[in-house]
Amino acid sequence: MHIGYDLSWSHLEGRWRLPGSWTHATFPDMRIYKELAQIAERGLLDFIFFGDGSGIPNTWKGSRDDAVKWGVGWPRHDMSPYISVMSQVTQHIGFGLTYSSTFMHPFYVARLLNALDHVTNGRMAFNVIASTRRADAANYGFDELMEHERRYDRMEEFIDVCNGLWNSVEPDAFIWDRDSGVVADPAKVRALDHVGEFFKVAGPLASVPSPQVRPVLIQAGASPRGIKASAHFVDHVFAMSPGLDKQVKHRAALDKALAAEGRDASRVGIVWDVVLIVGETEADARRRHDLLLQAVPVEAVGTFLSHQIGYDLSKLPDKFTINEINDEIVASQASPVGFLNMTTEFDPSDTLTKDEFFHALQKHTASYDHAIVGSAAQVADYMEEVFVATGESGGFMIAHPPGVPRDLLSVVDFLVPELQRRGRFRTRYTGRTLRENLADDE
Ligand SMILES: Cc1cc2nc3c(=O)[nH]c(=O)nc-3n(C[C@H](O)[C@H](O)[C@H](O)COP(=O)(O)O)c2cc1C
Repeated sequence: MHIGYDLSWSHLEGRWRLPGSWTHATFPDMRIYKELAQIAERGLLDFIFFGDGSGIPNTWKGSRDDAVKWGVGWPRHDMSPYISVMSQVTQHIGFGLTYSSTFMHPFYVARLLNALDHVTNGRMAFNVIASTRRADAANYGFDELMEHERRYDRMEEFIDVCNGLWNSVEPDAFIWDRDSGVVADPAKVRALDHVGEFFKVAGPLASVPSPQVRPVLIQAGASPRGIKASAHFVDHVFAMSPGLDKQVKHRAALDKALAAEGRDASRVGIVWDVVLIVGETEADARRRHDLLLQAVPVEAVGTFLSHQIGYDLSKLPDKFTINEINDEIVASQASPVGFLNMTTEFDPSDTLTKDEFFHALQKHTASYDHAIVGSAAQVADYMEEVFVATGESGGFMIAHPPGVPRDLLSVVDFLVPELQRRGRFRTRYTGRTLRENLADDE
């Protein structure tokens, strides 16, 4: 079983002010990130993860004010320099970094990730996103979001270009011969000369190939087109955890898409994004879980959700069904999958009032309602059940903890030893790189 830990939200949506969270520090204090990386490495976790969003939420009422006021989806930094610093106080833990293939240019991203893979000594993963958020799009020159399927067309070409660049210099091209002064063999450095629908890139990358050559590639698209894009290029997949039946279906859909691309499905794991709250006892875990109910003020719920789905929920009619709203969201080019996952507790054809909707979604906004909460043994039971039912390939991304470092310490000190006792988790790092650690089924 492989475990990632998502730190992206630790200072957002009120989590920063809960007991045990951001103790003696405020975002973006570097000392906290260094401490978290060291704790995660003590627990032998595979990687820590940073998602991304670059715009301040402003879909709700067409204004950013509520987001600014309540700390919804902001502030967020580009975490690449932070990863550099964290890598210097650790040796094994990997780092997942997110960039959007809809907004960024592949030459810049390929070059940056090459450098980061050097700095971290082969510990980088790249989470490629198509982006669903209008506030992000507006910072990159878009008046409207690019059409959903086209975003994935662009993603595939984006990664094809990155792969071409990462392979444009052969690993043994460099000689650095002091006597003759020869630096590299020109026969081992090739142009890319890519001309596609979205990009025109000459190449080669003017870089020394990095320890992993390319970062571990990860993608989380959950729509049929998103899954097809994953099959095109990923090493591993991120996916939500909407319930075991749906997860088994997701695994099957991915296997089918991988087969269609002629790839070996057994080598591509799914890392399930799940809120796991562990305590020394079940009662301790429940106390941590209940704190989440105090995190997000109800005023912030509409702001958060509207940004996530790219649709202004302040315009909801007094009564509506999820199906009706979802149709509008699909028409506006945001992701239908993301929205339906948020609302599994309702029958999509039931009529709801605005009040019922926002009240129920307050728990969703705080990551309260889907959390798996318990002692290490109880949480490990859940993990084993999902892991076995979905083919024992991949693992879990522990997401949206109430507060770090407190809840990361509970994972490292209670959950990891329990999984090790069951023979489900490593007792030491065996790989030299993140890719090797993620391929290790020991
Ligand atoms: C673990 C995980 C991490 C994700 N990280 C981000 C992120 O950092 N930024 C973002 O805009 N979307 C993120 N997403 C959303 C996905 O990229 C994707 O948009 C979503 O799963 C819907 O898929 P679809 O576009 O195929 O419908 C993440 C999803 C998961 C499951």
